[in-house]
Amino acid sequence: MADFVDPSWHWFIVIATIVSLLACLWLVLANRRSDSDSVEGEPTGHVWDEDLRELNNPLPRWWFNLFLITLIFGGVYLVLYPGLGSFPGVLHWTQLEQYQDEVAEANATYNPLFEKFMSTDIPALVKNKEAQVAGERLFANYCTQCHGSDARGAPGFPNLRDDAWLYGGSPEAITQTLTNGRRGVMPAWAGALGEEGVENVTSYVESLAGRDVDADMAAKGKEKFNMLCIACHLPDGTGNQALGAPNLTDDDWLYGGTRRTISESIANGRNGVMPAHGEFLGEAKIHVLAAYVYGLSKNN
Ligand code: HEC
Ligand code: HEC
Repeated sequence: MADFVDPSWHWFIVIATIVSLLACLWLVLANRRSDSDSVEGEPTGHVWDEDLRELNNPLPRWWFNLFLITLIFGGVYLVLYPGLGSFPGVLHWTQLEQYQDEVAEANATYNPLFEKFMSTDIPALVKNKEAQVAGERLFANYCTQCHGSDARGAPGFPNLRDDAWLYGGSPEAITQTLTNGRRGVMPAWAGALGEEGVENVTSYVESLAGRDVDADMAAKGKEKFNMLCIACHLPDGTGNQALGAPNLTDDDWLYGGTRRTISESIANGRNGVMPAHGEFLGEAKIHVLAAYVYGLSKNN
């Protein structure tokens, strides 16, 4: 609350708030007394719709009291809680503190549940029903926005149910991926290859995946491939998991398998980012999640 650009705003708000409360109080009290010309219970002389007359009666007591209670509530609230300029309130309550308390409480309840799975290794944890249910929940909370609720991914976001891995599907590799994140760096080649070069290399990449292509273009593309691409995708095109360079021979595509998306990958490059979750989720939850992901590819 104490982050006004200029401290005079604090006083502006304090004064405006207090004056409005007092004005409301005055309004309620002033309207309680009937004005001197009319007698209580008698018509005031105001008539609507021909026969609807206003009588001069005071506000019912319960209604009047309700106004007073509202005003008192407002005053007490502003003393206890933040609301009056940058005054923090005598309870020093903050949203952040409440959130932190709730997180601490949830951790105290659930962390022991996750900790107890730490001593079980990942292949064994796949068979533990309770751990799988916990993993599924974590996945629904933290992973589905990118990998999809069925974990089958989308263009640019890998399918986690198949056996094709960018970075490896061993328990250790998956744990690494979740803990530290991954960054796929595929350079753009439009400059080095030119438009025709990109088309030729695309044909060669398609031929690696077993498709029928123009042999002449593919042969030209192969030359460039051997010069520029094998450092990461390997001479046979099967890829290098240490770099996250995908296997180009399996006709399974991270960014989609049309000729157009393949040539776009080559011309413009790609930079897929899997965010690191280690610090955020902690070792025990990562362990349960890794077992869940490991299980997905085994049980598809
Ligand atoms: C520096 C290493 C590196 C080099 C060199 C490299 N690539 Fe890649 N390539 C990658 C990585 C990493 C990815 C995955 C990008 C991602 O995860 O976002 C990739 C992705 C691709 C894809 C998309 C695959 C898919 O499944 O959608 C194609 C196609 C491709 N590369 C072809 C090539 C060709 C052709 C060359 C040579 C002209 C080349 N790459 C050179 C690292 C490299
Ligand atoms: C912001 C989007 C995003 C979120 C959230 C996210 N991921 Fe990813 N994930 C990616 C991308 C993008 C890649 C591919 C990185 C690349 O192209 O190199 C990836 C890669 C992976 C891989 C490696 C797949 C392989 O083939 O090697 C695994 C495993 C994975 N994610 C699991 C998870 C899990 C479990 C969670 C939840 C804790 C999660 N991801 C959350 C975007 C995300």
